[in-house]
Amino acid sequence: IFSSAKEGSVKVAKEIRDLILDKQSKGEMCVLGLATGSSPIKVYEELIRIHKEESVSFQNVITFNLDEYYPMEPENIHSYHYFMHEHLFNHIDILPKNINIPKGNITVDELHDYCISYEDQIDAVGGLDFQLLGIGRTGHIGFNEPGSHVNSETRSILLDHITRVDAANSFLGIDNVPKKAITMGIGTVKKAKRIVLLGWGDKKASIIKETIEGAISSEVPASYLQLHSNTTFVLDKEAASELT
Ligand code: F6R
Repeated sequence: IFSSAKEGSVKVAKEIRDLILDKQSKGEMCVLGLATGSSPIKVYEELIRIHKEESVSFQNVITFNLDEYYPMEPENIHSYHYFMHEHLFNHIDILPKNINIPKGNITVDELHDYCISYEDQIDAVGGLDFQLLGIGRTGHIGFNEPGSHVNSETRSILLDHITRVDAANSFLGIDNVPKKAITMGIGTVKKAKRIVLLGWGDKKASIIKETIEGAISSEVPASYLQLHSNTTFVLDKEAASELT
């Protein structure tokens, strides 16, 4: 628990930096699972600072993003593709071929095979070394809404009404928010060797309490993280305020 989101984010960015450097020293690739939304923005700012001021290279980094709206064109300003380039990829030296973000512009017919291939690509590079997560007020991680199975894999999903309400402002109205998304599954996330979930602000306090102290249940998909042996929740005081 940190006194501010900034302090917690700097700590998380340093952990990611140390992992990248450790992998570099061994001549290995570092495989990162990344999130969008407001929660990771300060982590990405700090990673950009680390790249620029500490000359840390991201050329040995492979990334897999958790999710993307569906349907969604990559160049749309609301896409997670756009978000990731704005907030991170355009400012570091990661190789474009090492960036993986679910494609929101594939056809319905391609969807099933595409989701399987996303899982295969993660497996082919040895799995996720580190997965960064935010949490939605529904308890979703990625877009694994309530009802998601503990062993779920990458798939298309209907977004919960609360999730669409939360996205409505940035889309200038709920009618503009896509009804679906493509998301890595709970099972995909749980296979990561290390997981860090970021939670900032009092709006997250009650779902953080349910996730950490409540029953493990598909009603709160993030509660499945209780079953993972190397997960840390990095919170500010407000998000932690309802923990006993
Ligand atoms: C985004 C994602 C979502 C968000 C969650 C919290 O890639 O996977 O689970 O992390 O909706 O969003 P923010 O951070 O905007 O509160």
